[in-house]
Amino acid sequence: MPCPPKSDDLVFFVNGRKVIERNVDPEVTLLSFLRKNLRLTGTKYACGRGGCGACTVMVSKRDPLSAKIRHFSITACLVPICSLYGAAVTTVEGVGSINTRLHPVQERIAKSHGTQCGFCTPGMVMSMYTLLRNHPQPSEEQLLEALGGNLCRCTGYRPILASGRTFCVICTELFAEDEFQPLDPTQELIFPPELLRMAEKPEKQTLIFRGERVTWISPGTLKDLLELKAKHPEAPLISGNTSLGPAMKSQGHFYPILLSPARISELSMVSKTSDGLTIGAGCSLAQVKDILAERVSELPEEKTQTYRALLKHLRSLAGQQIRNMASLGGHIISRHCYSDLNPILAVGNATLNLISEEGTRQIPLNEHFLAGLASVDLKPEEILESVYIPHSQKWEFVSAFRQAQCQQNALADVNAGMRVVLKEGTDTIKDLSIAYGGVGAATVSAQKSCQQLVGRPWNELMLEEACRLLLEEVSLPGWAPGGKVEFKRTLVVSFFFKFYLEVLQELKKLVKFMPDSHHYPEISDQFLSALEDFPITGSQGVQRYQRVDSHQSLQDPVGRPIMHLSGLKHATGEAIFCDDIPMVDRELFMVLVTSTRAHAKIISVDLSQALDLPGVIDVITAEDIPGTNGTEDDKLMAVDEVLCVGHIICAVVAETELQAKSATEKIKITYEDLEPVIITINDAIKHNSFLCPEKKLEQGNVEEAFEKVDQIVEGEVHVGGQEHFYMETQRVLVIPKTEDKELDIYVSTQDPAHVQKTVSSTLNIPINRITCHVKRVGGGFGGKVGRPAVFGAIAAVGAIKTGHPIRLVLDRKDDMLITGGRHPLFGKYKVGFMNNGRIKALDIECFVNGGCMLDDSELVTEFLILKLENAYKIRNLRFRGRACMTNLPSNTAFRGFGFPQGTLITESCITAVAAKCGLLPEKIREKNMYKTVDKTIYKQAFSPETLIRCWNECLDKSSFHSRRMQVEEFNKKNYWKKKGMAIIPMKFSVGFAATSYHQAAALVHIYTDGSVLVTHGGNELGQGIHTKMLQVASRELNIPMSSLHICETSTATVPNTIATAASIGSDVNGRAVQNACQILLKRLEPIIKKNPEGTWEDWIEAAFEQRISLSATGYFRGYKAFMDWEKGEGDPFPYYVYGAACSEVEVDCLTGAHKKIRTDIVMDACCSLNPAIDIGQVEGSFIQGMGLYTTEELKYSPEGVLYSRGPDEYKIPTIADVPEEFNVSLLPSSQTPPTIYSSKGLGESGMFLGSSVFFAITDAVAAARRERDTVEDFTVRSPATPEWVRMACADRFTEMIPRDDPKTFRPWSIPIA
Ligand SMILES: Cc1cc2nc3c(=O)[nH]c(=O)nc-3n(C[C@H](O)[C@H](O)[C@H](O)COP(=O)(O)OP(=O)(O)OC[C@H]3O[C@@H](n4cnc5c(N)ncnc54)[C@H](O)[C@@H]3O)c2cc1C
Ligand code: FES
Ligand code: FES
Repeated sequence: MPCPPKSDDLVFFVNGRKVIERNVDPEVTLLSFLRKNLRLTGTKYACGRGGCGACTVMVSKRDPLSAKIRHFSITACLVPICSLYGAAVTTVEGVGSINTRLHPVQERIAKSHGTQCGFCTPGMVMSMYTLLRNHPQPSEEQLLEALGGNLCRCTGYRPILASGRTFCVICTELFAEDEFQPLDPTQELIFPPELLRMAEKPEKQTLIFRGERVTWISPGTLKDLLELKAKHPEAPLISGNTSLGPAMKSQGHFYPILLSPARISELSMVSKTSDGLTIGAGCSLAQVKDILAERVSELPEEKTQTYRALLKHLRSLAGQQIRNMASLGGHIISRHCYSDLNPILAVGNATLNLISEEGTRQIPLNEHFLAGLASVDLKPEEILESVYIPHSQKWEFVSAFRQAQCQQNALADVNAGMRVVLKEGTDTIKDLSIAYGGVGAATVSAQKSCQQLVGRPWNELMLEEACRLLLEEVSLPGWAPGGKVEFKRTLVVSFFFKFYLEVLQELKKLVKFMPDSHHYPEISDQFLSALEDFPITGSQGVQRYQRVDSHQSLQDPVGRPIMHLSGLKHATGEAIFCDDIPMVDRELFMVLVTSTRAHAKIISVDLSQALDLPGVIDVITAEDIPGTNGTEDDKLMAVDEVLCVGHIICAVVAETELQAKSATEKIKITYEDLEPVIITINDAIKHNSFLCPEKKLEQGNVEEAFEKVDQIVEGEVHVGGQEHFYMETQRVLVIPKTEDKELDIYVSTQDPAHVQKTVSSTLNIPINRITCHVKRVGGGFGGKVGRPAVFGAIAAVGAIKTGHPIRLVLDRKDDMLITGGRHPLFGKYKVGFMNNGRIKALDIECFVNGGCMLDDSELVTEFLILKLENAYKIRNLRFRGRACMTNLPSNTAFRGFGFPQGTLITESCITAVAAKCGLLPEKIREKNMYKTVDKTIYKQAFSPETLIRCWNECLDKSSFHSRRMQVEEFNKKNYWKKKGMAIIPMKFSVGFAATSYHQAAALVHIYTDGSVLVTHGGNELGQGIHTKMLQVASRELNIPMSSLHICETSTATVPNTIATAASIGSDVNGRAVQNACQILLKRLEPIIKKNPEGTWEDWIEAAFEQRISLSATGYFRGYKAFMDWEKGEGDPFPYYVYGAACSEVEVDCLTGAHKKIRTDIVMDACCSLNPAIDIGQVEGSFIQGMGLYTTEELKYSPEGVLYSRGPDEYKIPTIADVPEEFNVSLLPSSQTPPTIYSSKGLGESGMFLGSSVFFAITDAVAAARRERDTVEDFTVRSPATPEWVRMACADRFTEMIPRDDPKTFRPWSIPIA
């Protein structure tokens, strides 16, 4: 077949406009094309791996078989642009705009308060929009399915789901129908007629797109495809690119020729026969799901066992976008060890229909194929045409099992397909097949065990024998990659036990219809709970807050649930984030090069090969820094020594991102390893390696008190770290100006003044030449307080050296590797108490893993110690804390600043005391809580009245006591599922413990048309600070919010600002805005007095005429806050936020999974400035806290390499993780704190309330352990992952598994806390 020499034109449509790309590069993804070529920046980059949904767009294609238009969501970061030939792409910009017409999806997500930072919002909009294009009135299940692949780090999902629910068949939300514009499907963009014509008469000729390095070939016929495959046997078939794409990106796989089967309709054929189903290899997994569902509805149950097992896994496999993209063929051929479908297809006796120029042949999809044995594999010139899956028969039972870190959008730790055929009417095993995923390099078949069990009756004895055989055959070494070895071994047998019960249950049903048949073992009622899996359900709930006083003027927005100012722009993609700023003239891209060693001397850095590459302009090293290279202890770039894997060594500057990235691989660094390498807290203690002196607080006489108590318990608590996982990674754009060494810096930061100062000292130029601009930040959570200054400074050095603007955008894996996160903690406690539960003495010593540099570690340790007592009055206390120096990236500020980790120790003490006293934990909490006006351990006076109100209301609103009884009843009746409940009180101190940190300033200009520009020192991180500031200005100036505007935060308008952090931003900046407005009003007073009937515009005009300045700076001197650590006394915090949360969960003791049944939160917001925003902060931080305590787990190698560097390995909560019932109440005000309009800052406090889920899980685990007579005490370890839960629910299966002597192997990962 002759190949045309030149490249074909790529034709597709974007938002109704035709795109013709000549000389298209097959390596370009749709995301990059949209953002860079078409300047459609609504579609965001957040992970680049298909795992977060931020880049979701809709693709529409005409299906050649059904002749219908198919709309489906995809993640643009994995879609090669060449795959879009003949497709129509719709991005968020094509859906609606604030300038023309908003789409109902966009309007509703904003008005339901479903956006905070807004970085995830376009992706959410596109997932919902695509759903509505297919189902204008979707079901709740469809809605959840559509959003399962979209992550949000801010909102906690509840409001997003609420907005989607307004479209559902049954909408139970409290929205009036007339509140939103209706959905009118006739208004949507039509499928372009030109594409329809092209699809109806498809051209059969082969299309070729030639790039610099890669050629994309898309044949029009099967014959041509087979010919091409014979000619290029090494070329992969690129279907969904969800397997090839990530491998090419992260493992550096490179293929010069890619063959696209997209236009071959034969690969999408489906044929039904009387004995089975044949599905084309080109069908997407979403299509496979529909095909199977249809078949299940048509056939009798006994024939669809395999189909139903596949359907079960297809519901939780990845997110909807990936299921839309990934093909059945690609899935099977990839043979991933975690494949959810291959184990089922293998036990279900599926056959692969292969085709090549030579003809067709069939091979079984069995263990040999899955193990990649050459003799039973595809030949290089063959392709997979289709897969045949036979029907199941009567007396045949097929099941599927999977356990992952969380329920949806997470790769399974272990999965399995199991099938048994019994001799008709008996319990004798005729045939048995079992295959597991996740326990080896490929899907593993337990063939030998199965053979040995044939002929055995399906009873307890067989179960015992099967478990023994399976553990022998499916063996995992202690060092196995992926870790969790004992958990995986346990799942191997736990799954089989579930299968055993499931088959018995099915037999019971069969027997009902056959009275004379064989007698089968009965399942005791207590065991029935092992059979049910937790369904994926949406969250419902009520949000309560205090309405404003009826006398408040209608125009006064304070206290009202005003929508986030940028909400609609977030939803239309028109909100501009740092990397959305168009490319500036002569701009270059920077990529960082970091250490691969944890502790080493740098012997040499060879840049020559990198500098020779095309497009590479320079490599920036510490030697290029004109000023200071950070501080002695915290260098911007390593000089002679590296202190952690991820330590920045140098930075490549090139014309494009791709060129810069390629060049980083060519930089040769030689190291000489240094000793010691300290990774864990234990290592640091052993080596006496600390970042700062011990912090200590003490009251009473602890030793004496221990002598007088009835009982003493000692224990340990381990709390893992946490990655910020802001959706917008760190990014900065530095633009050097030609005059006076000025620099404009656009940066995603919580602290622009710190960036400005650091750049100034790095470049050795005065601060006044540098202007930092922050329009908005796509989530910060503390992670953008300190680190952006490092990136800003390095980029600025690059800008000065090259004279070009520099853009630095960290990709997700670098961001996770370099930036550090929440400090992991190890705590030891000794608590002395009376038999009635009264705690008399508490001694806590804790250590945090600070990483290799000081950063905020000393402050975090101080805060941790100050806050450890939480809500409890204990007369004799000793709290000690130290920050360990280790060879890990420096840990830093994170929402809650030590409180969420530290207080877990205090609450664990309470649980331990309760267990020893035989009392319920809530009783111990109540007994020891502050009751009257008192002083904290650091002698700050406070009244706990609100704390007690929160606690009582939470008990009441959650119907705690009656539900506690129901939980106990449930636990008595169910052996394999246990419920748990916990209610946790909270006293959270707001603000920084230093007076100078509480100042704030604002600048308010009134223009001659009456419009007002407000600027202040706070940064918009999604927390709605700008919205609140305009609410303040509107009240003060008595003008509507529509007359007010905030443009950006800039160091040129408000200088010397403090980081927006510590929950105090809106408060202190609000006071500054108030001050500026009051100054202006004062100036206007004589004019208003003279013309009281005049309008605002009249007064402003008059003021201008009279030469009255219409611009004022407002200033707030801040609260006095101090702490004397010598004396252990102080007034470190301006005020406290109180709260309580009650959570109920159910755990599956066999798998470790849990379901969150209900959470009730009562939070003291006093007089909320904006209840919608404040409830958003409470919900969002609660879910983030829940992630910390349940699923978010950072994995490190013993050499200090972070494995978890993306959404695949690090699981933040998804929409399926929100409690089924989630109620939040803001407690009506009863105090008048010295804050702006008596409001309170709620940014961080909700984080700790997530621990109520943790304690509910441990409560359930404790119930299981009591029933199984396992010793009561267990070490508290957070997060309470399925692995932890399963292993803590010790039983006959955990006892069966082989255990390794830890001294005999080097584990894959080590705990660092
Ligand atoms: C974010 C994310 C989450 C995921 N979650 C899960 C999960 O929970 N569970 C799970 O099981 N999997 C999961 N996966 C993996 C996913 O199922 C596979 O990547 C996918 O099925 C591969 O299909 P594809 O069409 O994209 O393959 P491609 O990447 O296009 O191709 C993969 C391989 O298959 C070959 N190939 C493709 N079609 C044919 C054919 N017809 N004949 C011969 N060879 C062919 C190609 O040559 C290539 O080698 C996830 C993937 C991502 C990106
Ligand atoms: S950026 Fe594409 S899925 Fe995350
Ligand atoms: S609003 Fe969803 S990530 Fe910020």
